[in-house]
Amino acid sequence: MSSILNSFNNIFASSDENLLKASEIIKNGGLVAFPTETVYGLGANGLNSIAVAKIFSVKNRPSFNPLILHIDSVSSLELFTTFHSEKVLKLVDKFWPGPITLVLPKKALVPEIVTAGNSTVAIRIPNNEIALKLIKISGVPIAAPSANSFGMLSPTTAIHVANQLKDKIDFILDGGKCSVGLESTIVEFSNDKFVLLREGGISSEEIEEFLGEKLNRKISEKNPNSPGQLKSHYAPKKTIFFIDEVEISNFNKDKTAIICFSDDKKYSDFPFRKILSNKADFSEAAANLFFFLHELESENVDFILAEKIPEIGLGKAIMDRLTKAVNHYR
Ligand code: TXA
Ligand code: MG
Repeated sequence: MSSILNSFNNIFASSDENLLKASEIIKNGGLVAFPTETVYGLGANGLNSIAVAKIFSVKNRPSFNPLILHIDSVSSLELFTTFHSEKVLKLVDKFWPGPITLVLPKKALVPEIVTAGNSTVAIRIPNNEIALKLIKISGVPIAAPSANSFGMLSPTTAIHVANQLKDKIDFILDGGKCSVGLESTIVEFSNDKFVLLREGGISSEEIEEFLGEKLNRKISEKNPNSPGQLKSHYAPKKTIFFIDEVEISNFNKDKTAIICFSDDKKYSDFPFRKILSNKADFSEAAANLFFFLHELESENVDFILAEKIPEIGLGKAIMDRLTKAVNHYR
């Protein structure tokens, strides 16, 4: 029992006092895990290369992949990036704070380690009060990837972070379960065009509708700078397949979990059945996906069988994450 309690002695309520402590850690070059509306981030002072380097070692990232800079106001955008387009400002006015990350040409002030040597930087304003306060009182942009170990599932609660990173991190701010539950949508702006790099918390359709133009797609598995675009990204601890790609009668019901999109009474004879959204609501389904996968990783099952989700709106991002998980076992 005590070991369970001990393993969580790095989780702190997000009181003003603890936010102040967290900001001191950031200012002093340390790491703080914090909630955002998408997933928990593992944050460091984004202007301090040595602090940012610690993120890579704690996450065990094998190479230096570029990180997202988290800011708390649109005015900071001009401090760290160069762009000459009203279109960019229109987009961020509409969707920030929120789960959309923009990739823009960087200014020299942004350290190379944040962008992995790229001339562009990924940047966003998260829609989470705790994250926004932390950035504000730290007085610096916070560089943060998702707070998981490399290749593992992104965390959507403080306990997920503590379970993965254990004592490699001293301070985890607890903000409950992430409301969006999937990483941000990433859009690059270059040559006066928006290019979709990763589906995420705001659907590409919604962005296209607002812009009145199609996003270009640059989905390339070979692009080493965008691990979010790799064919398989996170390795689930349990073997996962799509239900319609297997013969379900070959699976032992007591050892096989099912992830359904909505409750249409199917597979109710499987004791480990998770329903992403009873109302077939894509936002609710997105918020539950990683949460359920985390739960099933510690459940006594050997397999997870997932229903395919209609690829409409956030359904695209959900299917992107599920497909990447399934690809490990195809
Ligand atoms: O919702 C999110 O985006 C969360 C929260 C914490 O903000 N963060 C997150 O970070 O998912 P991470 O490191 O797990 O994924 C960031 C993605 C990576 O695939 C990275 O390659 C891409 O953003 N990225 C970062 N900078 C880039 C750049 N300059 N050009 C292209 N891709 C970039
Ligand atoms: Mg990640």
